[in-house]
Amino acid sequence: MAEQSRTPIIVGNWKMYKTIEEAISFVKELAPAVSKASGRVFLSVPFTAIKAVSDGTQDTNVVIGAQNMNDACEGAFTGEIAGRMLKDAGAKFVILGHSERRHIFNEGNELINSKVKQALLDRLTPILCVGETIEQREEGKMEQVLEEQLTQSLEGITDDQLTEMMLAYEPVWAIGTGHTATPEQAQEAHQFCRKLIEKNWGSDVANQVSILYGGSVKPGNAKDLMMKPDIDGLLVGGASLSTETFAQIVNYETIMCN
Ligand code: PGA
Repeated sequence: MAEQSRTPIIVGNWKMYKTIEEAISFVKELAPAVSKASGRVFLSVPFTAIKAVSDGTQDTNVVIGAQNMNDACEGAFTGEIAGRMLKDAGAKFVILGHSERRHIFNEGNELINSKVKQALLDRLTPILCVGETIEQREEGKMEQVLEEQLTQSLEGITDDQLTEMMLAYEPVWAIGTGHTATPEQAQEAHQFCRKLIEKNWGSDVANQVSILYGGSVKPGNAKDLMMKPDIDGLLVGGASLSTETFAQIVNYETIMCN
């Protein structure tokens, strides 16, 4: 498939870290450090910090988003949060189907599909995560798992809707473990995902959709991963908690290769 230029994008995922005060001082320090980045800079923060940091990043190139949402528009769902509330607080995107949601909170593809559809209705950019466990990889089931997760989580999504979304390949064995997939392993999985999108939604959509890699991304491996043709961006967990490492990853082009 012809390679087309997709704007690089680096997404930080803070998970359940940082108070409002910590979040505000982080973005104050981050914004000037990433102001010259050639790609897009996204930061996915805890619900409580969305309003404060989106207000605090108004005149910067840092875009704020959320890490999860409910699939209903509103309702009697104690403790849940709706996409329109995230939007109201200043979120522009939402991570859906992260492996911690799938494995710790038992979210299945059907629910994730419903969340994707609601996020699109709420005009939030969904970042849909997929990825295999180490057991699935060792049993040679990586492609089968990715195909199942992608086709089921994207069921009923139109061409136009898919071009408004992003995908993230995050092998479960690489998340928070320090075992990054090699650039070749990641490229292989990304290429598989893009071919699957091409098969089901056509080559225009497949060429446009950004596929991010996530799993132990660090300043030392960011550039090598980003050099692969089907890796359009990075989803960064642990290393996004420090302004220094996150800014280095965002500015990966300036990192010298080993
Ligand atoms: P990690 O997390 O960078 O700490 O491995 C990635 C993620 O969970 O998105």
